[in-house]
Amino acid sequence: MPENPQSPRGTLLLDSSPRSIEKAAALLKRGGLVAFPTETVYGLGANASDSAAVQKIFRAKGRPPDNPLIVHIAAIDQLRQVALCIPPEALLLAGRFWPGPLSLVLQRSSLIAAEVSAGLSTVAVRMPDHALALSLIRAAEVPVAAPSANLAGRPSPTSYRHVLEDLGGRVDAVIAGGNCRIGVESTVLDLTTPRPCILRPGGVTREELEKVLNCRVAVAGIKLCVNAPSSPGMKYRHYSPRAPLILITGHPRRRRRLCNELAAHYRGKGLHVGLLNQSYGDWPTGGQDAGLIAFNLYRALRLMDLSRVDLILAEGTETAGLGLAVMNRLRKAAARVLKV
Ligand code: TXA
Ligand code: MG
Repeated sequence: MPENPQSPRGTLLLDSSPRSIEKAAALLKRGGLVAFPTETVYGLGANASDSAAVQKIFRAKGRPPDNPLIVHIAAIDQLRQVALCIPPEALLLAGRFWPGPLSLVLQRSSLIAAEVSAGLSTVAVRMPDHALALSLIRAAEVPVAAPSANLAGRPSPTSYRHVLEDLGGRVDAVIAGGNCRIGVESTVLDLTTPRPCILRPGGVTREELEKVLNCRVAVAGIKLCVNAPSSPGMKYRHYSPRAPLILITGHPRRRRRLCNELAAHYRGKGLHVGLLNQSYGDWPTGGQDAGLIAFNLYRALRLMDLSRVDLILAEGTETAGLGLAVMNRLRKAAARVLKV
């Protein structure tokens, strides 16, 4: 890649050199929008204390105004700029999982723009486990608000090319790092309720959280959290490819058989069917390893769009470990869910 080429649509494509990171940080300080890689998915960053910059994120993504953003920090000291009343569990979890794919929901500090929280008094915060993201936040010298760098409703971007597909011409710069190591977003954990509750399953598993907290952790939508806290993002249909996706869940052998039978049926009718299922090898690395499926999930959904399939059939996976995050995303992408 040439150094700092200007994309035809006016978005600066930056490499990972220190000079480029300085340029990106200067853009953030001036109220600009910069997309950057993290270990989960690419984020679309703005200075979290700058209301006007944060509002630009919502416009660039077409994001509903009531869906709050995650604030990214590069050092534990920055947590006090973002959140009030930091409970002991927050420090325990941060010590164990940061930098990493865990966003903690805490009471918001007044230093963070109210728009970040979309009307809530709370804020989600995390420290990403990616050298470029951390250098960018350090160089910008401010906490960085960043949702996933996709158009609202589209699968999250796991490569800078996905970011350009969705946001080329709509943001100031994109830092071209490699593919994201995890491939699904961070776990969002609410610590403002009497018992910790997972609002969105993600890169840190429920089992890992329970081990560190030494208690059961509820998952919103699966087991009701005490006081039913909610993540505004949960009500939107997300992660969707353009073609309708049918998710097939249930007993592994039966779900695989139905998936194959439906594929044959629709192909017989002349439809171009995309399969997310190991026996057809359309999970690029195959198999039922939830980590590999997570890594490939969004890329596979975007590839289906590019190959213009009429219909996607996805075979469900188990919900242990990262499987919980994979099934959460597949359910949100699905137009229909069949259980066998
Ligand atoms: O891995 C990730 O989390 C990525 C990278 C870029 O860090 N970011 C990401 O952001 O996925 P986004 O905006 O696509 O998803 C943020 C989720 C949404 O479901 C939102 O509703 C929830 O976090 N959220 C943010 N702040 C919240 C709050 N104060 N209370 C409850 N839910 C919140
Ligand atoms: Mg998102």
